[in-house]
Amino acid sequence: MALIDRIKEQAKTQKTRIVFPEGIEPRIVRGVDIIQQQGIADCVILGVEESIRALAPECKLEGVTFIDPATSDKTAEYAEVFYELRKKKGVTPEAAQQTLLNTMYYGTMMVHMGDADGMVAGAICSTADTLRPALQIIKTAPGISSVSSCFIMETKTPQYGEDGLLIFADCAVNIAPDSEQLAAIAISSAESAKVLAGIEPRVAMLSFSTKGSAKHENVDKVRIAAERVKELAPDLNVDGELQADAALVETVGQLKSPGSPVAGHANVLVFPNLEAGNIGYKLVQRLGGADAYGPILQGLKKPVNDLSRGCSVEDVVSVAAITAVQAQK
Ligand code: ACO
Repeated sequence: MALIDRIKEQAKTQKTRIVFPEGIEPRIVRGVDIIQQQGIADCVILGVEESIRALAPECKLEGVTFIDPATSDKTAEYAEVFYELRKKKGVTPEAAQQTLLNTMYYGTMMVHMGDADGMVAGAICSTADTLRPALQIIKTAPGISSVSSCFIMETKTPQYGEDGLLIFADCAVNIAPDSEQLAAIAISSAESAKVLAGIEPRVAMLSFSTKGSAKHENVDKVRIAAERVKELAPDLNVDGELQADAALVETVGQLKSPGSPVAGHANVLVFPNLEAGNIGYKLVQRLGGADAYGPILQGLKKPVNDLSRGCSVEDVVSVAAITAVQAQK
């Protein structure tokens, strides 16, 4: 069974409630109809019910909950909580009221308040606009200093990773991570590997150097990050800095980092910055023909996930299933 089908089956085993703030987008409405019908999650869609239904009249949307922040009796309570959270940042009670009419903030606050288990958005909004409310309201999970993202890459090369399955990170959030942020990315990615892909992580911290073969401050950053991961998560199999071939190819790995439990067998690749991560996953997807699931946000206290603006209805369903499984854990 393909990984995404396994994730959908897992989502059905313990029903979660997922909120979709973009009720003005037909792909979201159609996706929600499928998610609800297939029992992947209980869906809440934000907006005016009549307008939402009019976008996809063929969808029955049976069992879906509709909430309009403009008329919801929770809006005032959410605005008060938001004001308390953000007053130090200059937010006034009036501004908080206004902010909570924005469905992205209302949906995020539902998750924060436990009225939903997770949120899926980004079919219309940019990555930054989807992420910002989550960073401001939900914040990072205990022990995690930075929110980041990963892609699950289902490649056509079973000799690498876990029978061709690899986690790539960070490909969407942290533009220029420092050592501490790279360590957080590694630890969150290892957790995503376990929770979503069911694999025991072997984490490679990637660079253009393997174990001191090149000297540069960028190499030092990755080496220090690998050391920091060992301090923060002593049981995790991690090695770095490693070049990509040393991480993936057994002969190269054993030559360049002898005795390493990771080199040559890595299934989680942590890229040194967003240029490398974002370009890297797109190359493997386009030139290598891999299926890429993501970006999956990780390190938040509760799950929020970002769709691409070019997403299909099927992508909405898949990302909701991933969010539901994250929420179960
Ligand atoms: N982890 C935890 N908290 C964070 C993080 C993070 N990685 N980044 C920002 N924050 C917090 C800040 O501390 C701040 O908190 P505060 O307001 O309570 O003090 C809050 O979030 C807002 O911080 P800003 O720096 O103002 O956030 P901004 O909205 O400017 O940027 C963002 C955050 C959106 C994640 C930014 O880093 C970004 O734009 N990243 C790149 C996104 C992107 O374009 N990706 C590529 C496309 S996606 C793709 O191709 C699949």
